[in-house]
Amino acid sequence: MTIIYRKYEPPISSLTEAFVDPRQIDNKPLERPRETVERDLTAIRKLISLDLSEPYGIYVYRYFIYQWPHLCFIAIDNEPSEQVESKPTEKSDEENLVGVVVCKLAPHRTVKMRGYIAMLAVAKTHRGRGIASQLVRMAIDCMIDDGAHEIVLEAEVENESALQLYENMGFMRSKRMYRYYMNGSDAFRLVLPVKEESTLRYCVLSNELDIGQLHNGNDMYI
Ligand SMILES: CC(C)(COP(=O)(O)OP(=O)(O)OC[C@H]1O[C@@H](n2cnc3c(N)ncnc32)[C@H](O)[C@@H]1OP(=O)(O)O)[C@@H](O)C(=O)NCCC(=O)NCCS
Repeated sequence: MTIIYRKYEPPISSLTEAFVDPRQIDNKPLERPRETVERDLTAIRKLISLDLSEPYGIYVYRYFIYQWPHLCFIAIDNEPSEQVESKPTEKSDEENLVGVVVCKLAPHRTVKMRGYIAMLAVAKTHRGRGIASQLVRMAIDCMIDDGAHEIVLEAEVENESALQLYENMGFMRSKRMYRYYMNGSDAFRLVLPVKEESTLRYCVLSNELDIGQLHNGNDMYI
């Protein structure tokens, strides 16, 4: 099993049927081939929808991945075990997709940049090997480089593995949202303060952390 982690970067288009990526090179927006992105979206959606209780439509995936493709990270298994044991078969990246994290970064109440981890999933066959932690770390680093003041997400209160994963990385529970999901279950909002102003706010709210311990220059990423 050889896991490759990478940013989801669809190729730049030479086709007319393209979508416009907000990032620019030489002041020109990038164009991505729509067909390739849609194929990748299908693979990403298939992996995520296996476990999430919310039945997200394709529009939700398009919303995130078309606008923030650079904040989507994937894990590919280049050597799935069945290929090692039997005859190797040529499989494309999307068939070997074993993990994905989908995020966005946007101004929140016009004053600060808020990163949001929208979806995270690892194939059942590949869990417990640190794949989710690595993907989340890559996404967090990228959002911090792009100016995030804080990073937030929601997780089901019963989802112990996800809560454990995020709390190990320094996320704190900031509120409980009742009947947040369509299946009627509650969610915790988790927050990772990055910049000083967010850290102070959440430390005061949670009243649990020693602010002095967190102080590390201006940036507070734990
Ligand atoms: C949650 C999920 C992404 C974890 O993926 P993973 O690759 O197995 O996670 P990692 O191997 O990186 O584990 C990181 C940490 O998460 C926690 N964790 C992972 N699986 C766990 C489990 N079954 N029980 C308790 N904690 C668990 C542990 O703290 C672990 O750290 P450790 O190995 O040092 O103990 C995966 O179980 C999954 O896809 N679940 C379904 C989708 C989902 O719930 N997504 C999150 C929505 S908020």
